[in-house]
Amino acid sequence: MKPKALGLLLTFAFALSALAWQGPGQPPNEYETCLDLPGVLFNYADIQLPNHLRLPNVQDADNTPAGNSITDAGATLGRVLFYDTRLSANQTIACASCHKQELAFTDDASLSPGFEGGLTGRNSMSLAMARYYQNGRFFWDERAATLEEQTLMPIQDHIEMGLTLEELESRLANTEYYPLLFEEAFGSPEITSGKVALALAQFVRSMVSYQSRYDLARQTAPPGPPGVAPWPAFTVEENLGKALFFDANRGNCAACHGTEAFIAPGPRNNGLDLISQDEGLGGVTGNPQQIGLFKTPSLRNVALTAPYMHDGRFEGLEEVIQHYSNGIQPHPNLSPQLRAGGPAGPPRRPNFSPAERQALVAFLETLTDEAFLTDERWADPFCETMVSTTAPISQDNWVVFPNPATDRVHLRLDLPSGQEHQLFLFNANGQLLRTYSFSGNQFSLQRDGLPAGLYHLQLILDGGQGQWVKPLVFQ
Ligand code: HEC
Ligand code: HEC
Repeated sequence: MKPKALGLLLTFAFALSALAWQGPGQPPNEYETCLDLPGVLFNYADIQLPNHLRLPNVQDADNTPAGNSITDAGATLGRVLFYDTRLSANQTIACASCHKQELAFTDDASLSPGFEGGLTGRNSMSLAMARYYQNGRFFWDERAATLEEQTLMPIQDHIEMGLTLEELESRLANTEYYPLLFEEAFGSPEITSGKVALALAQFVRSMVSYQSRYDLARQTAPPGPPGVAPWPAFTVEENLGKALFFDANRGNCAACHGTEAFIAPGPRNNGLDLISQDEGLGGVTGNPQQIGLFKTPSLRNVALTAPYMHDGRFEGLEEVIQHYSNGIQPHPNLSPQLRAGGPAGPPRRPNFSPAERQALVAFLETLTDEAFLTDERWADPFCETMVSTTAPISQDNWVVFPNPATDRVHLRLDLPSGQEHQLFLFNANGQLLRTYSFSGNQFSLQRDGLPAGLYHLQLILDGGQGQWVKPLVFQ
């Protein structure tokens, strides 16, 4: 071997010593984030919905603005942004931290912890069917006028993610892949927060849930709107729940959670005891007639979105049903759909029997869409690769002693034993003098008449997994 090659090896060895060491006998684990995107973009722009979700009462409520129709590349960029912790100041929180796919894009906390552990003021919201909220406003109190306006708000919120838009733009520009993704989505690699807003909104609007048991049963049901008549694909209990849900004289739920998206066109007051003095829309607009009004969320996947209501006050669906059964509170702004005997009447009290309460829960459970919860289109695109399992040794776990030596030299390795290693002895000119091989963690070599001076030992680990060079001096 020539001295030049030796120099290269030393450089390599130096680089290796910078790796983290996980513990005796284990390779160092260095992970690198990777991005796993499909070769052919997923279809977001043209999802084939079943007929009942293509009805005008659903489609006419679509809040997609003219300038931001969903494209496959735009939603793909939105997907990457949605799962990227770079969007929070200390890179610990992504949108997906509080909006988890397996929970229909909400979380299971009453209030959600942000990037520094502080709690949000309200309960995280499921994002499925956000697209079909007709008035197009967002948040429980509807303070965001559009989804495009909403998507930049959590990023800048000092509890949620705490990042400025300037930092956001420069962080994204400092990656290999964002300029490419922006180019695919918007025709130019330039990164602006405005485009971030558009892409995130496209991704959120693409979240349509259409493969629940309800949807399957609906497709084999007699034609016409869903109502009190039983469906062949439902159990007796689910059919009872469905009847109560749609019956204007009993649950009357569909009067607000209406259409096949199970969502209202706008905010309502559903008679919660406003213990927290949260004024909802009224707190934002200052309009006294809007005090106690909140966004009416879609009930699709609702069995997974506990706890419930804007403040997460109800642990389970049983408590929600109990509220609608006999817990509606009087309020000047109580919505008429929850009043008995006319728009000024007292709160409705349908007083469901235990069997009816159970049936309503069973019906709500048919709205769970397992395919939506696992569909790759909405899943985390980030992956991890291990960058270095191949260098399980550093200066610290290869000991050569005594050094300088007089006669015998010992080597000790801090490595799993039973491997076959090779050891080479070079003189100061880089000339190979001897070759040894050994297994296990220890080896000794004899001087055998070598003249005093500087030598180099090169160790090549089992199977070429790593190599290391050390100087050795004979006195
Ligand atoms: C720390 C938790 C947290 C993070 C991070 C977070 N959200 Fe939210 N999200 C919430 C909470 C809580 C609400 C309800 C807040 C309210 O109404 O005041 C909400 C509401 C929303 C809504 C409104 C839904 C509707 O129907 O009105 C959308 C859309 C949304 N978030 C998208 C996002 C996006 C996109 C990101 C990332 C840029 C994100 N969220 C990051 C907790 C979070
Ligand atoms: C007057 C309109 C109205 C009617 C009628 C109505 N709801 Fe609601 N519902 C709302 C509003 C508004 C909210 C959100 C209120 C809040 O959080 O402050 C809500 C919230 C819910 C939630 C919690 C959703 C979540 O993600 O936290 C469930 C579950 C629910 N309703 C089920 C029902 C059922 C079942 C019925 C019939 C028994 C019903 N609703 C009748 C307006 C209505």
